[in-house]
Amino acid sequence: MISTALAKMEAHMTNIECTNYIPDIIMNVSCILNRTAHKTGSLNMEFAVSQDVIDVNGIYILTIKQGSYLTNFTAIKLELCQLLDSVESHFLLKMVTTEIRRIGNLPLECPFKMNKRYYVKEFTINSNVIPSYIPAVNFISDFHIFIKNRKAGRIIIRGRLIHRR
Ligand SMILES: *[C@@H]1O[C@H](CO)[C@@H](O)[C@H](O)[C@H]1NC(C)=O
Ligand SMILES: *[C@@H]1O[C@H](CO)[C@@H](O)[C@H](O)[C@H]1NC(C)=O
Ligand SMILES: *[C@@H]1O[C@H](CO)[C@@H](O)[C@H](O)[C@H]1NC(C)=O
Repeated sequence: MISTALAKMEAHMTNIECTNYIPDIIMNVSCILNRTAHKTGSLNMEFAVSQDVIDVNGIYILTIKQGSYLTNFTAIKLELCQLLDSVESHFLLKMVTTEIRRIGNLPLECPFKMNKRYYVKEFTINSNVIPSYIPAVNFISDFHIFIKNRKAGRIIIRGRLIHRR
């Protein structure tokens, strides 16, 4: 009853930027925002690694921007080799990992295997998980990846939350 009265929000992705700091280890990186397959935009990503990779960590920072005012909505450290254990409590991460398992082949436990093609195909943000108290804002999703504590990669996704019509 109440939920029908709340404005539904939809997350549209407008831009993606992927940086590979260790091309000797991370290779064949492709990172594309497709604006036509889904109205909210969808991401296609793939990569391989030149050796078995363990000890992968991440820092995820979600920043929202209203006018010129920036707020860090969330900043989380992630043990990517034990993602299954660490995500259950966080709605954002749970949504992302559920979706990624459905549409890709990323392992949720390490190692990432040498010369295997990892991919995520047509990732979209599930708008049902967006709390309806969040106003229409621009967002910046900034994901830093470290391998053995060495800066390895960064994925920045920019977009906008808008009222669904
Ligand atoms: C986007 O997706 C559509 C539909 O799947 C496909 O035809 C098109 O080639 C894709 N564009 C890019 C840039 O990947
Ligand atoms: C958000 O977090 C990042 C990384 O910790 C930091 O560099 C930045 O200054 C923070 N921004 C705000 C508005 O707090
Ligand atoms: C990486 O790209 C090279 C050159 O396109 C290709 O020969 C190789 O099979 C690719 N490796 C993987 C694991 O996809």
